[in-house]
Amino acid sequence: MNQAQTQDQTQVLKAVDLTRHYAVRRSPFSKPATVKALGGASFILNAGQTLAVVGESGCGKSTLARLVTLIEKPTSGTLEIGGLEVTSAGQQTIKSLHKTVQIVFQDPYGSLNPRQKIGTILQEPLKINTNLSAAERRAAAEKMMARVGLRPEHYDRYPHMFSGGQRQRIAIARALMLNPKIVILDEPVSALDVSIQAQVLNLLADLQEEFNLAFLFISHDLSVVRHIADEVIVMYLGRPVEHGSRDEIFANPQHPYTRALLSATPMADPNRKRARIKLTGELPSPINPPSGCPFHPRCHYAKDRCRQEVPVMQPAGASQVSCHGVEEGRITD
Ligand SMILES: Nc1ncnc2c1ncn2[C@@H]1O[C@H](COP(=O)(O)OP(=O)(O)O)[C@@H](O)[C@H]1O
Ligand SMILES: [Mg+2]
Repeated sequence: MNQAQTQDQTQVLKAVDLTRHYAVRRSPFSKPATVKALGGASFILNAGQTLAVVGESGCGKSTLARLVTLIEKPTSGTLEIGGLEVTSAGQQTIKSLHKTVQIVFQDPYGSLNPRQKIGTILQEPLKINTNLSAAERRAAAEKMMARVGLRPEHYDRYPHMFSGGQRQRIAIARALMLNPKIVILDEPVSALDVSIQAQVLNLLADLQEEFNLAFLFISHDLSVVRHIADEVIVMYLGRPVEHGSRDEIFANPQHPYTRALLSATPMADPNRKRARIKLTGELPSPINPPSGCPFHPRCHYAKDRCRQEVPVMQPAGASQVSCHGVEEGRITD
C-alpha cells in the first residue's frame, strides 16, 4: 500500500494568507510606520505530522507562532483550528481552542516561573482548565514527568536546579498536560548544545507518535529540521518562498534563497554537485522591504522583472516556489 494511504491525513489546522502588520514609531514625533512582519502564509497541518518553518532571524517565524497559538490576531487572513474559524470565533470557542494548540518557546527559563516548583508548573494548566482533584492533578503531572524523562524527585524542585535540556523537557511536559492536538515549537532546541539537541528532538519524535501530535516546528537552522520534518516552508522577510516535502527541499531546492540556506548548512550532502551559494548582504527591513521580489538585492539571478514584480507561490516540480527565475526556467544547476 502506498505510504500516503496509510498515513493519518486528518487536517487539524488550516492557515490561509495569514498576515500580520505592526504599527511602530521610531520616535515620539515621527509618523507611524508599518512593519510587515508576516505577509501571506498559507498551509495545512495534519495530525501526526511535522511542518517545519525555516528562515533567518527576523523573517516572521515567531509572529506566525503567536498567530497560530491565538496569542495575537492576524491583520488579515483566516485560521481554522479543528474545523473552527478562529478569526470570527467567540470567547468560549477561543478558550476551548487554547487547549488544542500549545507552544514551547526557545528559552524555557524565561517561560517557566522561577518561583514555582516543577509539580506546580505542570499542574497549573489542569487547575485552570479542568475539574480534576488535587490528587488527580498530581498523578497526571507525575505521569507526564516520567513520559518526558524527568525523575519523581524532580517534582519538588525549581527551574534553576535543572540543565537547559531538562528545562526544555519541563516546558514540553507542560505543553502536553491538556492533551493538545497541535504543538508549536518555536526554536525549541536552538539554545541547547548539539548533543542535547538530539535527545530533545528524539523525545519530540516519540511524543508525536504516541499522542499523534501535529507539530509546527520553527527553526533558523535547516539541519535541525532535516530529521524531524515531513514538510518544510522556507520564509524570507515575512513571506514563504518555498514549500515542499522534506525530501524535495533537501534534494531539489529551487528558490535561490533555499539553496543559499542549504549551502550554509554544514550537513549538506557532500556528493552534491550544485555550486555553493553564499548569502551576502543584510536582511532588509520589513518596514521598507525591497520592491518586486524581496530577495532580489541578495539574489545572483535577479533581473529587471524581479526588481519590479512581486512573485507569488506557484507549483514548480513537486514543490511550491515564489520566484520569477524558477518560473522562467532560468535557474538550473
Ligand atoms: N510586536 C512587534 N512590534 C513591532 N515589530 C515587531 C513586533 N514583533 C515582531 N516585530 C518585527 O517583525 C519582524 C519579524 O519578527 P519575528 O516574528 O520575531 O521574526 P523571527 O521569529 O523569524 O526572528 C521583525 O522585523 C521584528 O522586529
Ligand atoms: Mg523568533
